[in-house]
Amino acid sequence: MTSERIYRRATIDDKENILGISDNIYNGRDYLPELYDDVIYNKDMRGYVCEERGKVLGFFFVHIVDDSETIVRRAGRVKSSHQGQGIFKNLMEYMIKDCASLPKVKYASIAIDGTHREKVSNYLKRENYRHAQTMNFHLFKFNIQDVPTLSLENNALHISEITSNLLKDILKNQTSRDYLFPDNIVRIHSVPFKPIEANIKSFVNKRTYIIGSFAKYKGDEEGDISDLDPCTIRLMTLASFYTCKGGLAYQLDIFGNRTEDLGDHLYYHMQKIKTMANSHVTSGVMTPNDMELGDVEKHFKNYGISRKQLSFWETHIFTKTM
Ligand SMILES: CC(C)(COP(=O)(O)OP(=O)(O)OC[C@H]1O[C@@H](n2cnc3c(N)ncnc32)[C@H](O)[C@@H]1OP(=O)(O)O)[C@@H](O)C(=O)NCCC(=O)NCCS
Repeated sequence: MTSERIYRRATIDDKENILGISDNIYNGRDYLPELYDDVIYNKDMRGYVCEERGKVLGFFFVHIVDDSETIVRRAGRVKSSHQGQGIFKNLMEYMIKDCASLPKVKYASIAIDGTHREKVSNYLKRENYRHAQTMNFHLFKFNIQDVPTLSLENNALHISEITSNLLKDILKNQTSRDYLFPDNIVRIHSVPFKPIEANIKSFVNKRTYIIGSFAKYKGDEEGDISDLDPCTIRLMTLASFYTCKGGLAYQLDIFGNRTEDLGDHLYYHMQKIKTMANSHVTSGVMTPNDMELGDVEKHFKNYGISRKQLSFWETHIFTKTM
């Protein structure tokens, strides 16, 4: 009975019950098992549960980003036997009241899979969400043991791992910031962030690896990473990774349009994957909506990862003012 349902913040003791809500969410690519402890202990995250007579029926969490101005809803799930009874809606209402104690919050964002868009269109309208971005999601599956070691394709490019300091320079520089993030969104595995310094900790951390290709150094001489000219960045690929039932999930968000550099970026990403996985990998590659699928796919083909093993869908980001 609805009256016996309790809505509250999630605790570490709920972990097992929450992870048991659905064992095949996101086709075996659920990130919650790896992230759950962060949800509880990271001050920028808050988890919410619906419980009935000691049984957990539903869960989602919010990630508080953009210098505490935006809440992003993530990882929502309700027991299949209890779906359609308003549990998720009530959880969201509880969250809104709970987050009212956060003085700086002004916006809320969500990512909706294209296949769910129709289903939630009334909700989005009613809640005054506006469409902020469409991105394409391509799923590649492979066994890293089968991936050949290739060499770099373009020796004229300067390719580097992007550190916090280099990313700060890129964000400070209007030319590079506007080129990489024309919608003013840095999406990482469907989570939208503003391209601001306060979010750097979410961009560069132990679960990410970022590669940039640059046309040149600030001066004429070749220098070290701090001498790369941020204005000349051509492509940035941001990997975020976690282990899941399907093996290693290696998400790759692509920023910029110089897809001809992607082969060289993949060279570094494949090396990185080899340090973390020894068999199955699923790589969810997220591209701007106007990027040609073939321009992404051909670089994977060079590694023997073919179209037959690929699937594709659109994801939409919506934002509202609270
Ligand atoms: C999506 C899910 C959590 C909804 O839970 P639920 O308790 O059945 O949902 P409710 O009965 O409270 O109704 C959901 C309401 O929230 C809205 N909603 C908001 N975001 C939504 C989303 N991502 N997916 C579905 N509904 C969503 C719906 O439109 C609906 O409102 P409406 O009746 O005014 O249209 C549940 O179906 C589920 O666990 N699905 C599998 C996991 C999944 O796909 N999660 C994606 C969400 S991040």
